[in-house]
Amino acid sequence: MCGIFGYVGKRGCVQEIFKGLSVLEYRGYDSAGISVIFDREIHLAKSEGKLANLKPLLESLPQGAVVGMGHTRWATHGAPTTVNAHPHVHGGLALIHNGIIENYDDIRTQLKKEGVSFVSATDSEVALKLIVTRMKEGGLTLQNALMKSLEEIRGSFAFALMSVEEPNVIYLAKQGSPIAIGIGEGENFFASDALSLVSYTKKALFLQDGEIAKIAPDSVSLCSFSGETVKRFPTQLQWSETSIEKRGFKHFMLKEIHDQPGMVAAAIKRYVDQDKKTLNQSAFPLDKLDLRKIDNIQLIACGTAYYAASVARYYLESTLGIPCQVELAHEFRYRQALINANTLLIAVSQSGETADTLASVVYAKTKGAQTMAVCNVQHSSIARECQAQLYMEAGPEIGVASTKAFTSMILNLYLFGLALAEARDSERTYFSGEVFNDLMALPIKLEQAIDSFDAIDQLAYKYHKSLSCLFIGRGMCFPLACEGALKLKEISYIHAEGFAGGELKHGPIALVDTQMAIVALAPHDAYYEKMLSNIEEVAARHGKIIGLGELNDTRLHEVCTDYIACPKASIPALNAIIMAIPLQI
Ligand code: M6R
Repeated sequence: MCGIFGYVGKRGCVQEIFKGLSVLEYRGYDSAGISVIFDREIHLAKSEGKLANLKPLLESLPQGAVVGMGHTRWATHGAPTTVNAHPHVHGGLALIHNGIIENYDDIRTQLKKEGVSFVSATDSEVALKLIVTRMKEGGLTLQNALMKSLEEIRGSFAFALMSVEEPNVIYLAKQGSPIAIGIGEGENFFASDALSLVSYTKKALFLQDGEIAKIAPDSVSLCSFSGETVKRFPTQLQWSETSIEKRGFKHFMLKEIHDQPGMVAAAIKRYVDQDKKTLNQSAFPLDKLDLRKIDNIQLIACGTAYYAASVARYYLESTLGIPCQVELAHEFRYRQALINANTLLIAVSQSGETADTLASVVYAKTKGAQTMAVCNVQHSSIARECQAQLYMEAGPEIGVASTKAFTSMILNLYLFGLALAEARDSERTYFSGEVFNDLMALPIKLEQAIDSFDAIDQLAYKYHKSLSCLFIGRGMCFPLACEGALKLKEISYIHAEGFAGGELKHGPIALVDTQMAIVALAPHDAYYEKMLSNIEEVAARHGKIIGLGELNDTRLHEVCTDYIACPKASIPALNAIIMAIPLQI
């Protein structure tokens, strides 16, 4: 969740770096800092808390500096204090770091024995002091000292490093944490998220694991950690500058909730031949997979993407008629999962950079599995690591709380499942008239769901003092309930948990009393009657039930304390997309 933005060129860069960091604000952070080189000196400004706290300190930096870098930090090692904030400065060098150095404690102990002292509690300062030490003891250039130090460092990192000895250059090194270089005219940029580059340039180079970049105003050169030259052509960034604007909404999450009808309409255009009412098979990366070999599917993801994948599992398994598992990537990567050459591993990730998901793909490849990425960011690490890519094209998701990526993942995986089924079984039409009609009506239904904003807002006000909230659902509505709970805790800091309705009686029901709010998802599907029984169980303990169901469901309405009526799609996966909207609101 840290952010990096840097500049090497010809314009005064202090304000530009601040602007670049502001675009990355959505990632969340607890402190920030900027360092620039001017008159062969490193100048530094750092502050705790919001980026706004850094702004007044920028005046102390030389505005004419044309080389500099900034960082927004999300504390991992050491509290979010100014001392622990990046950049770290020592011995004429400044360093910023995203990632985690796993063996930082061993290196620190070793350096202490060599007489080095530390001022912060961070693993990043350890990296800086290691580089400075290696530079001094070996009389090495900065690049050589960096290469030597990288031999000793284990973990994930994107480093940016500048030195008063080479005042027109910044070095980057990458292992496991993303960093992109924006190519300009007589100026170059770099950022942990290419999104912050699009205001300056559309030409970008994505540094890959095991690579170092040397960035000067007129050149960018790449080499491996061991010094071999690497050649790579820049790629074109797809996003426009307007796609990173709030377009009048109060915040990005709100904008992204409202983006969903348009996003679905764009996906329909891409994937569906509306004249023939068929799927555009060529829009799916089926040609990159050996379809005959696939006899099971393993979905892996984290957080919201995991819940989207968990929804997808229901329909992929039933449509394709093959086993389909879903697992959290951080669990999957550390166990010796039994997958093989007949497995299609689908890595679901909005950013395409989640380290555990990436590591799971790497593991799957060692087992001979086929791999496909479902992600939103082209050229991202996960997309590059997989043999096939299904790009969601949902537009940048800047709000930290995922909204449109969730619904987009469900939709993309649903249509991919149909396309895959048709490619494996040409005798049958999976994309039926019912699916076509439901899909075509989806954008309008999402608009209608968003139109309930004010009513849901009032309900939120009524319940805002609740200390805890349960979300219950069955079938696809179970992972949907978990996603609803995740949104509530993430945004409102209210404790919330999602449960399968059938699980209530196995323990969680003990939590229900008159103070407990329970959001019950109950569309008219195969689980409806069972869900009503679960709601009755909760009602018997006088919990406050907020029902989420269909427009004219008087039965459900009667057993609930409050009720949110949702437009309905007949295809359950598409219905799940509609029901996600009130949960997001
Ligand atoms: O970029 P990814 O989809 O791989 O991110 C995975 C999770 O960190 C992410 O979905 C997170 O749970 C959401 N932003 C929460 O709203």
